[in-house]
Parts: sequence; C-alpha cells; structure tokens
Amino acid sequence: MTRGGVAGRVVTASGVLMLLVGSGFVVLLISVQGLRASEHQAQHTSAVLTNAHQVERLVADLATGQRDYVITGQQKFLQPWEQAAGQLPQQTAALEQLVAGSPDEVTRAQAAGRSITSYLQDYSLPQIEAAQQDPDSARTEAAISEGTRRVGAIRSVLDALIASEQQLSAREQRQSDAIADRAVIAAMAGLAGSVVLVLGFAGYLTRAIVRPVRVTAEMANRLAAGDLGVRVPETGVGEIRTLERTFNTMASSLGTTSADLAASRARIVRASDETRRRIERDLHDGIQQRLVSLTLDVRAVQADPADSASTALDRVADGLAATLDELREIARGIHPAILTQGGIVPAVRMLARRAKLPVEIGVDVPDRLPAPIEAAAYYVVSEALTNAVKHADASVALVDIRHADGELRLSVHDDGRGGADPAKGSGLVGLADRIAALDGTLIVESPSGEGTTLTVTLPS
Ligand SMILES: Nc1ncnc2c1ncn2[C@@H]1O[C@H](COP(=O)(O)OP(=O)(O)O)[C@@H](O)[C@H]1O
Ligand SMILES: [Mg+2]
Repeated sequence: MTRGGVAGRVVTASGVLMLLVGSGFVVLLISVQGLRASEHQAQHTSAVLTNAHQVERLVADLATGQRDYVITGQQKFLQPWEQAAGQLPQQTAALEQLVAGSPDEVTRAQAAGRSITSYLQDYSLPQIEAAQQDPDSARTEAAISEGTRRVGAIRSVLDALIASEQQLSAREQRQSDAIADRAVIAAMAGLAGSVVLVLGFAGYLTRAIVRPVRVTAEMANRLAAGDLGVRVPETGVGEIRTLERTFNTMASSLGTTSADLAASRARIVRASDETRRRIERDLHDGIQQRLVSLTLDVRAVQADPADSASTALDRVADGLAATLDELREIARGIHPAILTQGGIVPAVRMLARRAKLPVEIGVDVPDRLPAPIEAAAYYVVSEALTNAVKHADASVALVDIRHADGELRLSVHDDGRGGADPAKGSGLVGLADRIAALDGTLIVESPSGEGTTLTVTLPS
C-alpha cells in the first residue's frame, strides 16, 4: 500500500488545522497592531489640531489686543497681547515637536513660527511702540491692512498644517479600516476552513476507523458464535487494513484448524473401528478355529477312550499351549502388558530387542508417566522401528527418550534412505493425531538419502 497510515493522516490533518488556527491568530495580531497604530495616529492628530488651534487663538489675541490698544490707547488691552506674546514661542515650539515625524508639517510649523515671530517683532511690537509715542501714526490704513495680511498669512500656514494633518489621519483611518476588513475576511475564511476540515476529518475518521472497526467487531462476534466462514472486506487504510487482514487470516486459520481437528477425529474413530475389526478377525479366524478343532479332538477321545488316549491328550495340550501363545500375541497387539506393568523404559527395550535391526537406546526417564503419554511414546517407537525396517533399509536405529521439566522428549533416528511422507501411509498420520490429542508435537525430518528422524515432545 502506498497511501499513508491512519496515524499519518491524523498528524497531517492536525497540522493543517494548526496552520489555519495559527494564521487566524497572526491576522488578528496584525489587525490589532494596525488598530493600535491608527488610534495612536488619531490621538496625535487631535493633539496637533488642539495645538494649532491654540496657536491660532493666541495669534488672534495678539491681533485683537494690539488693535484695541492702538485704537483706544488704553493700557488694559495690552494685557491679552502680552499674555499671548509670552505663550506663543512655547506653543509654536510644542507644535514643531508634535509634527516632528512629518517633514512637510515641520516646514509648515516652522514657517508659522517664523511668521509669528516676524509679526511680533517686525510689526506688532513696533506698532505698539509707535502708538505709545504717537497714537495717530499707528492707526493708518496701511498699518492696519499690513496687520490683517500678516495674520491672514499665519492663518493660512496653520490651516494648511491642519488640513495636511487631517489628511494624514484620514489616510491612516482608511488603512486601518482596510486591515480590519481583511482581518474579518481572513478570520471568516479560517473559521469556515476549520469547520470544513473538522467535519471532513470527523467524516474521515468515521469512514476509515469507526465503521471498519464496527464491522470487524460484528464479524468477531459471529466468529465467536461459531461461524468460521466470516471475512471482513479488506478496504481499510494503513493500520485498519492490517487489522482486517489479520482478522481474516485468523478466521481462516481457525477454519483450517477446525477442519484438521474434524479430520483427525474421523481418523481416530476409523482407526479404533479397524482395530476392533482386526481383533475380532484374529479371534474368529485364529483362536476360535483352534478351539473348535481342540473341542473336536476332545470329543474323539471321549468317543473312543481306549484309542491311544495319551497321544490324543498330548495333541490337545499342545493345541491349548499354541492357542495360549496366540492369545498372548493378540493381547500384546491391543495393549502391551509390559507397558502397563513396567512403564515406558522396559517397553522400549523390549521393542528394541524384537526389532529386526540393531537399536541403540539412550533413556533418562526417572518416574512413571501418565498412561496416555507412555502409550503414545510406545507407539511412536514401535512405528518408527517398523518403518525403519519396512521402508528405510536402515542398518541401525537410535532411540533417545528423556523426561525433564514436565516434558517428555523422544527421538527415533534411522540411517536409511529417508523420504518419509505421512501423506503416503497411515502410520505417521495416526501418530500425529495421537500426539496432537495430547497437546504434543511431532516433527518428521526425512531428507532423501540422509535417514529419518522423528522428534516428539509431549507435555506431561
Ligand atoms: N523411516 C523411513 N524411511 C524411509 N521412508 C519412510 C520411512 N518411514 C516412512 N516412510 C515412507 O513414508 C510413507 C508413510 O509412512 P507411514 O505413515 O508409516 O505409512 P505405512 O508405514 O503404513 O506405509 C511410507 O509408505 C514410506 O514410503
Ligand atoms: Mg508405517
């Protein structure tokens, strides 16, 4: 699969969400900054305007005071004049400082300052002095219009400064409005984007995780209820796909195991039926026939006791002995008495003695083991030695059997031709069933030309 896993997608979506929310905050910060700057500007503008108006008023005071004094000659009119003249240098200096950021306005403020100083020194003061000496000389038309012109000039410089300051303020306001508009748009877009992303992501999680997990859980329920045929569609992403695949693998291996189990049970039933039939046949064809003929022999002796009775009885005795042997042989086939009496070690030694090839034995089994374990081990050795003679053409067999830490370990090796294949007969499969029924394991290693080794472990 080339697409990233669920974890990768979660991280990516979180990253995008973080970016969206983060950039929203950045826009907000910028607009706050812009608003603060514009408020600053507004404050500044209002200070400049107040100051400029103040200067204008002082200039007006100067002009009025001087005019009234010149007209009336009364000293009291000089008071506002003096006051204004005293305050003006300070006010104009303050104005210059206020507009220091804008070279244009500085020029205007300086021009206003110069005009005011010139008005005071070159016009107003001389006028007053002249009026003090000769009141009439100061009241000339020319002198009055000169004053009006000078005041007008000062006013127009100050008005220009005020207008330029107002323009500046308006521009700043427009800018901050634009910033605020942009911030609102960006915030709305970010919000809408976040909503879409969160909804989309919730949908994705539902589709990619919640639904497949629910389907898998349902299937797990059905599986637990015994429906081994269930499978989930493998359509998920990343880890979910792995979960679905693992579930299907588990379900199919459960199915296989259960089929194996059923087959093994059927084989065990068949094997025990066959064994019963064989015993029935052995008893019927062998023992029963022999006993019938011995009964006939005894009847013959009864019919003619004189006829060499001792010879006939000898024959009957021999027949009975042979029947007994045969009975023992059959009994051993059903379950070897030596196994019940002596346990696995003497039973294996007996198998080795009877085998038609040399057998080397290594044993370390200090105690008796549960009967089913001893029987399984016995049949493994028995089948392996029989196979070594029957199929392997082996020259020697090695049997090793030890019990330790709650486990019986058994191996039988022959140096024959190898190539044993459980699928080709019934002996090895029967052993495997028997051992599996006891939770043990059987491993058949039989490379061609290198002999055969059966390794068995049985918990006990
Ligand atoms: N020790 C062995 N060496 C070589 N081939 C073997 C050996 N044991 C078994 N085989 C082969 O594997 C087949 C399966 O063995 P088994 O299950 O014991 O069946 P059976 O003995 O009834 O034929 C045998 O038919 C034989 O071809
Ligand atoms: Mg066999």
